[in-house]
Formats: sequence, structure tokens, C-alpha cells
Amino acid sequence: MPQLELRNIVKIYPFINPKKYFFNRKKAEKVLEEQRRMPYLSNEGVIAVQQYSLTVEEGEFVVLYGPSGCGKSTVLRMIAGLTDVTDGELLIDGEDMEGVLPEERDVAMVFQEYSLYPHFTVAQNIAFPLRNLHLPREELDRKVELMLRLLELTGVKDEKPATLSGGEMQRTAIGRALIRRPKIFLMDEPFSNLDTPLRRKLRVLMKKIHQEIGTTFIYVTHDMYEAMSLATKLVLMKDGMIVQEGSPGDIYSHPENITSGTMIGAPAMNIFRDAVLLRDEDGCVLRVLGKEFPCRKKIEKKCGPVILGLRPVHFEMFREPGADSGEMILCTVLRREDAGTEVHFVLEPVEGESCEIRTAIRSEDPAAGVHEGQEVWIRPRTEEAFLFDTETEMRLQ
Ligand SMILES: Nc1ncnc2c1ncn2[C@@H]1O[C@H](COP(=O)(O)OP(=O)(O)OP(=O)(O)O)[C@@H](O)[C@H]1O
Ligand SMILES: [Mg+2]
Repeated sequence: MPQLELRNIVKIYPFINPKKYFFNRKKAEKVLEEQRRMPYLSNEGVIAVQQYSLTVEEGEFVVLYGPSGCGKSTVLRMIAGLTDVTDGELLIDGEDMEGVLPEERDVAMVFQEYSLYPHFTVAQNIAFPLRNLHLPREELDRKVELMLRLLELTGVKDEKPATLSGGEMQRTAIGRALIRRPKIFLMDEPFSNLDTPLRRKLRVLMKKIHQEIGTTFIYVTHDMYEAMSLATKLVLMKDGMIVQEGSPGDIYSHPENITSGTMIGAPAMNIFRDAVLLRDEDGCVLRVLGKEFPCRKKIEKKCGPVILGLRPVHFEMFREPGADSGEMILCTVLRREDAGTEVHFVLEPVEGESCEIRTAIRSEDPAAGVHEGQEVWIRPRTEEAFLFDTETEMRLQ
């Protein structure tokens, strides 16, 4: 039995009624306007989450990833019991959670804002949830010491929150949430107030803690790197629905549709909407950007218009066309950006309809030295391309 199961969950937030907000009427009217602009509405209100089915096994590190407003926090709050479910079932260990209070669910949650008791030290903050258990002093100390060590907080254990850094405060909040070893640990963008190097460090730490304690983690972020590096199960979300779920590697190499293809990977996948799959004597060729390219995929049956997805790494780049310029496209460099091991380019074909092509070339490649305004030849490795249906935008084959 899965530890957590969401079955066809729907969450509708009622429309706000400005008449009820006598003193804040202007603001309430603005909120209502925003609500009316949301992509999915019902008669009762905003559909924040719909058709949402997800199963989580014990010990997984689930990451909910998607743009602002896609319903990530709402899903987390429904699991925690902080907001009710409009329709569908939410089960923990097979038990329906309807009417079960947050404190009875054995889940813990950490938010973006730090919420510590200002008059308590780090150690006292972490020990706080154990206060009613009447544990022997030694056992209590042992549990707190272990948590301090796990979160690398031993050095500041006697300090009060006011003197802590943001990272230390958030780690203290995590320690306090984990000390009772909840069944499920929920985190809503816990590190988004911190700077990038610190976030990277804490990411590594979270991974280590997850491996050591083996508790189920459900983590919300809109940072792609965070999502990819932490998740054992990545859940891509958009407009309150799941776009695709799976391991980060699997989603990257097998996107089910254009949305998941473009959500994962940076720079984002190039999408060519006017590609055509043609039959020739050896099988298939792809016509795109005014030229024809090989297509190794066995999808002859799908001949006709297709949408082509090419990741920036799916291009080779050359300073000179070489012998076989028939398969290459001459482009102008619009933008160039060094990204360490790779250089990222935005190119525009010299001939044909104007469009932008993103490429990522290894820095040591001689072609990576070209600059803005110069010309380069590119060859798309169409054998590795993704093909999508023009109507459903689902991946073909
Ligand atoms: N209390 C509420 N009342 C009405 N609408 C709400 C409420 N909370 C959230 N919403 C709406 O529900 C949708 C989902 O919001 P939610 O906070 O879950 O998104 P999110 O993915 O967490 O976004 P972010 O990344 O910005 O935190 C949004 O359209 C939001 O405006
Ligand atoms: Mg949120």
C-alpha cells in the first residue's frame, strides 16, 4: 500500500466577496479580478488543483515543480490538513484523511518564512515538539544532539534566533519539524529566501539527511536545479494539474509532451512547429528550416506535419561549413553567454523565416569561440530529436 495517495483531487477556492471586506474593499475587488483571470474557473470559484492523482511510497523524495500559481502550496497544504479538499480522496497509509486534524496526521511542514521561538536557543527550539512526551533527560538530549549534528548546528546550539543567519534559522526550523520523526515531511520553498551558494550547500545537506533518516520528503520549489538534483520522483505541474511525473532523468530523456519537454533542461528545448516528416526511399526524413535532415526514428506511419523538439545540446556548431554544407544551416550569433563548461548561444538563421535557435556547445569546442554578430554553421542532430503531435502536443512513437 502506498504511504500517501491522492485520488483525483480537486481544490476550488471560493471567489472572494468584496462586500464582506468593508475596510479592505478595494483590495478585495482587486483579488476578485485576479481570480476571474485564472485559467480554470467554476461557478463557485477558482479551480486551483484538478485531476490530481499521485502516489508516494515510503522514503521517496518527491519534488513538486512548476511556475508560480500552479498549485504547489495548495497540494502541500491539503496533505498537511491546513486546507480542505474540495473533491477526491487523500489517504495516508490507506486511511482517508477527511476530517483528520493536522496534528493527528503525523506530518510536519516547513515554510519559506522562518518561524522560530525568539526567546529559545537553537537547541530549545529543536527540542520544543518533544516537550509533552516526558522523555528522560538523557534521551531528550541524545535526540536533540543527533538532530543538531545532522543539521550541522552544534556550533550555534546555545544561540538565539536573532543572532543566526538565514540558513541557520531555516535549518533550526527543519530540525524542529524532524525531531518527532514524522511519517511525511513537507517543505514549501524552504530555501528561497537564501542566496545561491547557500542554497546549493543546503541542497546537499537535505539530500544527506533524507538518505540518513529515510523519511518521506515532499518538497516544493520553482528552481529547476533544486528540483532535478533532489527528486527521486519529480512531479511537473501546470495550471493545477500534473504534466508528468517520474525520475528527473526519465522526464528529461522521455518528455511525454511539449510542456514537460520545455519545463526541464536549461536553456530550454527549441520547438519548431512547422516541421514535416517525409517518406523517402530509406525510411524517413525531417524537413525543417528549409532543409532536410535524417530521421532515424521508426515512425514512418506518422508522416506529415509534426512539431520538432531539439534540446540546445542537440546541435553541432562549426566555424566553416566543411564538405557537407547541404545538411547545415548558416546562422548569425544574436547572443552568447558563458556558462562554465558550456557556452550558450541564441542564433538566427541567415535565410528563411526569422526564428531564434538556442544551442549549448562545450567550451573547448573551437566553434564556442564565436561572438555576437559573427556567423556560424549548425547541424541539428535530428536523429535525437523529439517529435510531437501537432494537435495533442503529445510525443509521437
Ligand atoms: N486562500 C486562497 N484563496 C483564493 N485563491 C487562492 C488561495 N490560495 C491560493 N489561491 C489561488 O490558487 C492558485 C494556486 O496557488 P498556490 O499558492 O497553490 O500556487 P503555488 O504553485 O504555490 O505558487 P507560488 O510558486 O507562487 O507559491 C493560485 O491561482 C492562487 O491565486
Ligand atoms: Mg507556493
